[in-house]
Amino acid sequence: MQFGHFDDSNKEYVITTPKTPYPWINYLGSENFFGLVSNQAGGYCFYQDARLRRLTRYRYNNVPTDVGGRYFYIHEAGDYWTPSWGPSKKELDAYECRHGLGYTKISGTRGGLKADLLFFVPMGETCEVHQVTLKNESKQKKSVKLFSFIEFCLWNAQDDGTNFQRNFSTGEVEVVGSTLYHKTEYRERRNHYAFYHVNAKVAGFDTDRETFLGLYNGFSEPDVVTRGKSGNSVASGWSPIGSHCLEAELAPGEERTFVFVLGYVENPQAEKWASPGIINKVRAERLIEKFATSEQVAGELAKLKQHWQNLLSGYSIKSSDEKLDRMVNIWNQYQCMVTFNMSRSASYFESGIGRGMGFRDSNQDLLGFVHLVPERARERILDIAATQFDDGSAYHQYQPLTKRGNNEVGSGFNDDPLWLILGTAAYIKETGDASILDEQVPFDNDASKAASLLEHCKRSFDHVIKNLGPHGLPLIGRADWNDCLNLNCFSETPGESFQTTENREGRTAESIFIAGMFVAIGPEYAALAELRGQTTEAARVRSEVAKMSEVVLKHGWDGNWFLRAYDFFGNKVGSKECKDGQIFIEPQGYCVMAGIGVATGEAKKALDAVKERLDTKYGIVLNNPPYAEYHLELGEISSYPPGYKENAGIFCHNNPWIMIAETVIGRADRAWEYYRKIAPAYLEEISEIHRTEPYVYSQMIAGKDAVRHGEAKNSWLTGTAAWNFVAVSQHLLGVRTDYTGLRIEPCLDKSLSSFTVTRRARGATYVIRVKNEGTGKVALKVNGSAIEGTLVPYAKSGETVQVECSV
Ligand code: GLC
Ligand code: GLC
Repeated sequence: MQFGHFDDSNKEYVITTPKTPYPWINYLGSENFFGLVSNQAGGYCFYQDARLRRLTRYRYNNVPTDVGGRYFYIHEAGDYWTPSWGPSKKELDAYECRHGLGYTKISGTRGGLKADLLFFVPMGETCEVHQVTLKNESKQKKSVKLFSFIEFCLWNAQDDGTNFQRNFSTGEVEVVGSTLYHKTEYRERRNHYAFYHVNAKVAGFDTDRETFLGLYNGFSEPDVVTRGKSGNSVASGWSPIGSHCLEAELAPGEERTFVFVLGYVENPQAEKWASPGIINKVRAERLIEKFATSEQVAGELAKLKQHWQNLLSGYSIKSSDEKLDRMVNIWNQYQCMVTFNMSRSASYFESGIGRGMGFRDSNQDLLGFVHLVPERARERILDIAATQFDDGSAYHQYQPLTKRGNNEVGSGFNDDPLWLILGTAAYIKETGDASILDEQVPFDNDASKAASLLEHCKRSFDHVIKNLGPHGLPLIGRADWNDCLNLNCFSETPGESFQTTENREGRTAESIFIAGMFVAIGPEYAALAELRGQTTEAARVRSEVAKMSEVVLKHGWDGNWFLRAYDFFGNKVGSKECKDGQIFIEPQGYCVMAGIGVATGEAKKALDAVKERLDTKYGIVLNNPPYAEYHLELGEISSYPPGYKENAGIFCHNNPWIMIAETVIGRADRAWEYYRKIAPAYLEEISEIHRTEPYVYSQMIAGKDAVRHGEAKNSWLTGTAAWNFVAVSQHLLGVRTDYTGLRIEPCLDKSLSSFTVTRRARGATYVIRVKNEGTGKVALKVNGSAIEGTLVPYAKSGETVQVECSV
């Protein structure tokens, strides 16, 4: 069942009912200021860091769901309603929500009045613009009141939700004309404030929540709105809000537009105050001036659309499969941008409090994003590398605002270091900018301990070699990619973190997954070393990689698939000898991607085992059979009920590893089958089962052992976005950047007879026309002349290269 449809020409998803199976959201903002907005206008916004600089309040895990947002209430002759349906839930005569790239439009109609809401963050600004257009579609004259509403968060979202003994006494605001200023804590150490403005004369306002709502009311029935009259309240302590009241007289057919600006301002210390106790508003006023009219708003929205148009033209496809095209051209790339910006911090499943930027996550997010905005990828790589320790290990997470590692989570995830090499290599392949390798980057954010980025990569590589276990396989530490396989944890205390508790010495448990990564990613480091003329180093690296490959086949092979790990006691994990958890997806994917066992047959066997034991109609589960009970020696994985999350859920992040692995052994049919099973556009018709947004990937779909098989959770912020983009764009469609040219190796099933990919790389444009002739062998013509091999050398910036590919 569908709850909307794609509008590809406008690059929008159109939701036709507010009652979607779960709130379906979108993201606003692309640089410093961000917002989340649902199809019922729920959500919140923040400056840079969802934990430390949150402007508006959102109530996670509340009832009903999706509480807190940017609400517009309309009062007309005793009746009141909200065009987004929620929170008033008054029936609408018409409703539509369009989630576009960086903006959302919601329109609702009731009793002959149409209200169009537009939300976006203008490029380069630290504010949200909310534009409201009211149109009288009836034959009578209308006299309406529009009430805006947002609720301010007391900046630190963690504190905001917990420290009530203090917070109920700190709230402060200033009201000047049509602008409501939120200045809690500005009197002391903060030099930033928020404001909410409208470009019209107000009939009234409120800044005190209790006055606006009434102490015993919810957002569905605010006192002020039901009464149709603002309280002109000035918050003092308790909970500051921002609400304007606007009056509009509308003749039949007449419309009226209001522009609201919800902004964030930072003042230099010396310019904090206009006069004692009165905040300096100059910067806010400047921002407000930019959005005084709806023409200015239209201009900024056009800029935003143009920006996305430019970004997305870096890789585009035209084929006969419209679902494929909309994933590749629009939504998958868009989600890559969002994951790059948010890492795993703020979504409807990630509270914005718990986690900052992940070392491993952000490096992987880069893979799907680097072709869009390479300069930002460069900066990100250097930020991430600065949170590495000098022994090569790394902070698992860091805060985006401070760019410092999080001490609470610490280090010890032994896969982390290797991802830095992968991210760096992807950046250089895309841009050719090897100078990044020479950048001096601190260890542990300590500039006195700086070394070149290449040296950071070396430490990453050597961290694996210096931490090998009894079989010569990499030690797992707290966990590897699978955060929930905690082989040194042994936790018996409820509530204790499986990931930060590490109460065994930790020098025995080994990971075959990290071994696979090492074999796959090691050669990338060798190539980087070569770029800097270090041929001896490159040779050393290649010989270590070859050694590891042998160790995997010797100690990491279970007869029909790759083992997952050895636990603390040296027992096998992911073996036919185990009762539960006999086979895991991760090592099958990464070891085959690394090329292990491709020549000798193990790779094919492993992938056949995946098909037989892990594949389901909704995607490939992580392990099988699921753990039926808690295993002290395995940790969090066995804490989940069977079929959910890492315990045999369909963890979409690693499905593309299998897709890529299938292309490595040339099985296009399987690769495409796996791709279409989890790509959201193909799941639109089963939205009532899948439940999350049909335009973005979710981290997890409940596996075959779960009661709710097929139900997705944790949409948006997941490495699934980047990896599926890598899989489809680079390995299935087969167009990827390499150090000296564009590699073209499509791996196609019968469904696509021909298609065209347009790829921008290093300033040149490549128009690649692919004909699927079922030969499985790539033949290329570049500007009319046949070439040997599959590498199209990079052309000069500005040139357009015509490539014909038959396969
Ligand atoms: C989450 C984490 C990611 C981890 C994965 C598997 O998606 O963000 O870092 O690899 O779970 O546990
Ligand atoms: C939980 C999740 C896992 C995630 C981790 C992040 O363990 O199950 O997916 O990676 O938290 O800390």
